[in-house]
Amino acid sequence: MNRDFFTRSYPATRMRRLRSRAPLRRLVAEHHIRAEDLILPIFLCEGANVRSAITSMPGIERLGIDVAVDAVREAADLGIPAVALFPQVEASLRDDEGSLATDGNNLVCRALREIRASNIDVSVMCDVALDPYTSHGHDGVLRDGRIHNDETIEILVRQALVQAESGCDIIAPSDMMDGRIGRIRNALEEHGHHDVCIMSYAAKYASALYAPFREAIGSDTHLRGDKRTYQMDFANGDEALWEVALDIQEGADMVMVKPGILYLDIVRRVREQFGMPTFAYQVSGEYAMIRNGIDAGYVSESVIEESLLAFKRAGADGILTYFAKDIARGLSSTSTIKGK
Ligand code: PBG
Repeated sequence: MNRDFFTRSYPATRMRRLRSRAPLRRLVAEHHIRAEDLILPIFLCEGANVRSAITSMPGIERLGIDVAVDAVREAADLGIPAVALFPQVEASLRDDEGSLATDGNNLVCRALREIRASNIDVSVMCDVALDPYTSHGHDGVLRDGRIHNDETIEILVRQALVQAESGCDIIAPSDMMDGRIGRIRNALEEHGHHDVCIMSYAAKYASALYAPFREAIGSDTHLRGDKRTYQMDFANGDEALWEVALDIQEGADMVMVKPGILYLDIVRRVREQFGMPTFAYQVSGEYAMIRNGIDAGYVSESVIEESLLAFKRAGADGILTYFAKDIARGLSSTSTIKGK
C-alpha cells in the first residue's frame, strides 16, 4: 500500500463518498462471487427416486442416483462448474478395511457413470478416504487402536483408480495420510489417467464442524474416538504450509483448506505462499450454524453472501459450499453478487 496516501485527510478524504450510492458501491467492490467459483457437495444414497432428509442440515437431502443426476444438471445449468459426491453406505456393507471403497460398483462409481452418461458439462469430484466404508468410521485401516498409514495408502490408490475409471475428473483425497498424493499421482499416470486432477485436502483440521456431515453419511454413530492422529491440530498455522508444500510437491493440482470460515488466515497464507489454485470448504457445521441462524430469524439471509465474500477476500479461488445453488440462483448470467 502506498503510504503517501495517508498525507491526505478529511475533508479531501471522505471515505463515505464512495459508499454514498449503490452503483458507486458496485463500481468499487473489490471482490465478487460468481457461480463459477462454487463447488456443490452432493450426498448420495441407494434407491430410485429417493430423497432423505438430514436432521442437522435443514434443506439438504441425500439423493438416490437418478435424483442426484437431476441435481447435477440443475447445478450445471446455474453455471456451477463442479460437484463433489459423498455416499451414505449401508451399515451392513461396511467393514474394518473399507473394502467397498475399491469396488467399481459402489454407489459413487455408479453415480459417476450415470452422470457421465447424461453428458452434463460438469466436473465431478470424489473424496478419497475410507470413512464412508469402514465399520469404525475412520478414514484409514484401524488395527490395535491405530490408523495404519501405509496400509491405508494402498487402498486409497485403488479407490482413486476405480473412481477415475468411472469418470471422476477431480480426485480429492480427504484422508490426511502421509504420502498419499504422490502414490495416487503415480498410479493415475501409470494407468493413463493423465488428465485426472488432484485436489488435495491439504490442510485439513480435526474440527468439530464436521458433525452434520458425519450424520449425513451415517458414520456418526460408528465413529470410535476422534481423528486427531491424522487431521491437523487447530492450534497450528505454520504446519499447514508444510502440509500444503508436501502435497504440491507430490503432485496436487489444487489445494484445499478445511474447514473454511474459522481458517481464513490459513487460506490467505496458502494463497500468498504458493499461488496455486486454492479452495476452501465451508463445511457442514458452518452450513448448519448459518442455516439455523437464518431459519430462527436471528440473522438475515445475507449472511450467506457475507461468508462467501470473506473466502474470496481471503484469497480463495473457489469454495465448496452447501449454499452453492442458493447463491447461484441469485445470480443472473451477467451479474455477480457484491458486498452490500
Ligand atoms: C471424510 C470427509 C469429511 C468431510 C469431507 N470428507 C469428514 C471427516 O473428515 O470426518 C467433511 C465435510 C463437511 O463437514 O461438510 N474424510
